[in-house]
Amino acid sequence: MADFVELGKLKSTAPKLFGVPTKTKIDEMFFTIEEKNGKFVKKPLGGIPYQSVINVTGIPDTGKSLLAEQFAAVQADMGYKVLFVSVESPAPFLYTSLKQKSKALSLDFEKLEENIVVIDAAMNSEFREDPNTLLKTMEKAIEAKHITNVVIDSITGLYEHKEMLARQIVRIFFNFLKEHRQTGIFVSQKRSSQDLMSSEAAGGLAVAHIVDGTIVMGKETVDSKWKASLYNMPIGSVLRTIRIDGCRITGHDDRTWVFEITEAGIVNIKQPLEEFVKGGDK
Ligand SMILES: Nc1ncnc2c1ncn2[C@@H]1O[C@H](COP(=O)(O)OP(=O)(O)O)[C@@H](O)[C@H]1O
Ligand SMILES: [Mg+2]
Repeated sequence: MADFVELGKLKSTAPKLFGVPTKTKIDEMFFTIEEKNGKFVKKPLGGIPYQSVINVTGIPDTGKSLLAEQFAAVQADMGYKVLFVSVESPAPFLYTSLKQKSKALSLDFEKLEENIVVIDAAMNSEFREDPNTLLKTMEKAIEAKHITNVVIDSITGLYEHKEMLARQIVRIFFNFLKEHRQTGIFVSQKRSSQDLMSSEAAGGLAVAHIVDGTIVMGKETVDSKWKASLYNMPIGSVLRTIRIDGCRITGHDDRTWVFEITEAGIVNIKQPLEEFVKGGDK
C-alpha cells in the first residue's frame, strides 16, 4: 500500500455497514441512522457490525463464553463459517456446550459440526505462548475453510503472566482479523477488583482501546433490602446486566440491559434496566 491515499480510492475496500446476527437483542442495540421523509430515524443494524472486532468483557461467570458460543452457533446455523479459538475451555467441552445450545435454540447441529472450526489453544501451550504459531494456524484454517467469523475466548488468555505485552498481542490479533476481513469477538477477562461495568480488562484498557467496540457483561448479587426492593428480586439472587460500552463503527444503544442465563445456558436479553426497575415484566 502507498504511504498515503486519496479518500475516494478507499471506496472499493470499505466494508459495507450491516449487522452479523447474534439472534439476541444485541442485534437491535446496534443501529444506523436513515433519512425518512426528511427526518432521521434509527434503524437496527441486525447484528454486530460486519467486519468489526468486538470485545466482550466482564468478571468471571458473567456469561461471556456463553454469548460468544451462541454467536458462533447462530452463525454456523445460518451457513457461515466460524473459527473458534478456545483458549480456556478444552475443545471437547466446547463440543458439548455447543450441542446443548443447538438443542435449546432449535438449531441444526449438523451445520454446527460442519461450519465451526476449532483451534484448541487450551490444551496446546505453544498456541498460547507464541502468537505467531497461533496466527499461522488461524490463517491456514481461514483460507482452507473459507471462514468469515472468528471468536477468541479469551484474548486475555494469550497474555497471561505477561500483561506488559497486552497491547502488542491484542494489536497483532486485531490487525490479523482486519487483514483477513473477519468479523470477530474477543472475549476479555476482568479482574474482580476492576470496576464492574467498565470496559477495562486484564492488561488495562489495551483491548478496549484497540478493538472497534466493547460489550460489558456484569452481575450483581442482591445483597441488601434496598436492592431487593429496587429490583424486586429476592435477597441472594443475581441480577445480570449487559451494555454496549462503545463502538467506533456505528451507533448503539447506551443503556444497561437486564438478561438471564437460561437453564440450557442461553443468554436471553430482556429489557433495559431502567424499565426493569420500574416494574416491567420480570
Ligand atoms: N447450561 C449452562 N451451561 C453453562 N453455563 C451455564 C449454564 N446454565 C447456567 N450457566 C451459568 O452461566 C454462567 C456464565 O458462564 P460463562 O459464559 O462461562 O462465564 P464467563 O465466560 O463470563 O466466565 C456460569 O457460571 C453458570 O453459572
Ligand atoms: Mg469464559
